[in-house]
Amino acid sequence: MQHNYSYQSALETSERIAWRVEDLIGGDKKLDFTRPFMPESLAQIKQLSFLTRAEQLTLNQIRGHEYLSMFGLVEEFILPYVVEHARPQLSGDDYRVRALLQFAGEEAKHIHLFKRFRQEFENGFGSKCAFIGPAEDVSRFVLSHSPLGVGIAILHIEWITLRHYIEGVRDNQDLDPQFKSLLKNHWLEESQHTKLDTLIVESVVDGASAKEIDQAFQEYAEIGGFIDNGIKQQAELELENFEQATGRKLSSSEREEMSAALLKGMRWTYLGTGMTHPNFLASVEAIKPEARKQIEEMAPAFC
Ligand SMILES: [Fe+2]
Ligand SMILES: [Fe+2]
Repeated sequence: MQHNYSYQSALETSERIAWRVEDLIGGDKKLDFTRPFMPESLAQIKQLSFLTRAEQLTLNQIRGHEYLSMFGLVEEFILPYVVEHARPQLSGDDYRVRALLQFAGEEAKHIHLFKRFRQEFENGFGSKCAFIGPAEDVSRFVLSHSPLGVGIAILHIEWITLRHYIEGVRDNQDLDPQFKSLLKNHWLEESQHTKLDTLIVESVVDGASAKEIDQAFQEYAEIGGFIDNGIKQQAELELENFEQATGRKLSSSEREEMSAALLKGMRWTYLGTGMTHPNFLASVEAIKPEARKQIEEMAPAFC
């Protein structure tokens, strides 16, 4: 992909941004449970006309909890990946070393941030929300793939956070201000991660054979399939979370309708927004044009 990304400029931008978890949540910075947490473009629940407005709000917030949990989960494998990638290069280019360690430090901070928001959520929501996992099993599975396969999957994840904020959150005045600030501050730092991960992927590609590149795209599809499987399980858990939070017993046709809407919303949130992201696709095309075509062919099932 054509770009002007560099370790030095990503580091400089990152050092200018520098926020603390404590600036975003805790003390008088609380979640406002009278407002939605997720933009409708990701939540996709307004179509469920059998729900009251209050129930739609509850389901929106359940999806907010899922978003916090899902990013908590994926950051758990991004952090060791970046650390492992940086390790053999610690005595190389000073800007590269510092930018990669900064990247890792920010992901560790994000893990903490998502955890703190989840605690606040659990304190204020009124009932417990179940989530798939455990994170260690997910990390183990993802990191069992080649560095290039995992790097491409992480690149997908970095780009989706940008899209979520820019397309659904930035100009949205309805959302809870605290949740919005989480998404904004995450976006601010993820904007550097997209650049750094592009550079990481390019450096891994440099030493890769055609066979290793083919394998990496198969692994990207495998990791995507694994996430999709998790999404399907989570959609079922969301029904339980909803019934528990509202005390409403859904009929079987309502369950079916809600489950389909949740699955569609989650697929778009975590898979479709990456598989159709122009910059992600440009990186893929630069590695292997055929892989871009394959991803574009698969994408409509997740959009
Ligand atoms: Fe992050
Ligand atoms: Fe990131």
